[in-house]
Amino acid sequence: PRPGHVSVVVVGGTGDLAKKYLWQGFFQLYARQVSGGNTFSFYGGGLSPAEKATPLLFEILKAVSCPGDVSAERCALLREQFLRLSQYRQLKTQEDYQSLAEHIQLQLQQEGMTEAGRLFYLSVPAFAYADIGQKINGSCRPAGGAWLRVVLEKPFGHDYRSAQVLASELRSSLKDEEMYRIDHYLGKQVVSKILPFRTENRKYLDPIWNRQHIERIEIVLKETLDVKGGRIPFYDQYGVIRDVLQNHLTEVMTLLTMKLPSNVSNSEEVLQNKLQVFSSLLPLGKNQAVTGQYQTYNSEVEQELNTTKGHISLTPTFAAVLAHIDEAQYEGVPILLISGKMLDERVGYARILFKNDVFCLQNHNNVHCKPKQIVFYFGHGSLQYPAVLVSKNLFKPVMTGSEWKEVTEHKEVSVLGLPASDYYVQTPAEEKEAYAELISHIFHGRKDSFISTENLLASWGMWTPLLRSLTSAFPRIYPGGAENGDMLDVRLKGNEISYNSEVVIVSADKMGD
Ligand code: BG6
Repeated sequence: PRPGHVSVVVVGGTGDLAKKYLWQGFFQLYARQVSGGNTFSFYGGGLSPAEKATPLLFEILKAVSCPGDVSAERCALLREQFLRLSQYRQLKTQEDYQSLAEHIQLQLQQEGMTEAGRLFYLSVPAFAYADIGQKINGSCRPAGGAWLRVVLEKPFGHDYRSAQVLASELRSSLKDEEMYRIDHYLGKQVVSKILPFRTENRKYLDPIWNRQHIERIEIVLKETLDVKGGRIPFYDQYGVIRDVLQNHLTEVMTLLTMKLPSNVSNSEEVLQNKLQVFSSLLPLGKNQAVTGQYQTYNSEVEQELNTTKGHISLTPTFAAVLAHIDEAQYEGVPILLISGKMLDERVGYARILFKNDVFCLQNHNNVHCKPKQIVFYFGHGSLQYPAVLVSKNLFKPVMTGSEWKEVTEHKEVSVLGLPASDYYVQTPAEEKEAYAELISHIFHGRKDSFISTENLLASWGMWTPLLRSLTSAFPRIYPGGAENGDMLDVRLKGNEISYNSEVVIVSADKMGD
């Protein structure tokens, strides 16, 4: 497309997310795109008056850093320009949006540029979306063929019905193609490699990616932090299932189990294949879930929400859920989704664990069978960098594209019970932050890593019955904190999940036959 002027508006521009990731992502975009002839203006928006919020915004903007390949000298220059192009605007009333539109118009005239588009990033609570959508629609639509893209942060609703209401409210002011619902896990390098990895290694995977060979699939996000410090009002309403299982872990699950598209960049085909996974899932009931809550959670709630003594929050801070796909390929294969706060380690991964005996026999080695697995390691934890790992006794993976390299120097760290030297390890040549990656996709109008309305509703369709059945369930209390060691021991054996050695889940009816 022809270069032109791009206006970026971050509503909630001085909030936590903007401070931690968004401005950094927009600065990187600027650093990369400005040489292509585009011009930019950046607006941090919010409800506070400009006198109050401007210093805060600039404090955040001054701290942005450049992509690794930009020299320190050029970086300093770019940062100076970036600050000059940025300003804070109060965005409260329709008139505020009107005056923003006038300002953009003036900017275009002064520069003598044509307009490329307007990008609004709504980093605000979801209840404000519909109203902001209307105000943008009312006075901030660009004219003359320039694009409008509006980015929405999760949570998108808290169950199927509320997601549906939110989606239809937004549709009254924005077109589907203008909405970019973000799930930052889809911007993680390892997650975006799942489909290409499956496609490129098809000749090895086709014979083993099925119920005969897969022992189980695990998708795990363990965190060590608690939720206190301002997040409780949000978290106590949502809990771990809505916070990360319904979105991040579910998206990873669909990428691992969906039928491969003929072309991984065909977003329509990817979406249709993902939707097919949702429609083949066996319904989740409370027998397929175990929930927990760290011990000090309720006193944190009491302090931060000023609840009355004796009020008990049942919000889970931990969940392990067992899903099954009712298709011949995966029949009986347990898919375990686990996440929690205040656990013993910070680690995120998805792994496909293969049945040992098959490969031991193939290797003519019945004596010593090491686990055979493919691990999509999101980062953190003992390995510290994102990576795709394949047990050496499986196959040597193909990974094309210069942005991925093989790691030959294997640190002797344990990755899920095995030393790293037991794996072929592929890692990105340069680590990229998920938000920066997705911001660049938005700029280029690439929709394949965003959550469409159909995808969103299908995912809520999967989780809503379970959430409903857990409404008055008491989570199991766990001590919480790394010092307690591996106090949360979730294991899956045969058809059962055990939690701290106690069997709590008996699998779906379909299993075990
Ligand atoms: C967010 C959740 O979406 O994801 C947080 O709201 C969670 O509670 C975070 O900590 C985890 O993301 P990451 O990228 O740090 O693994």
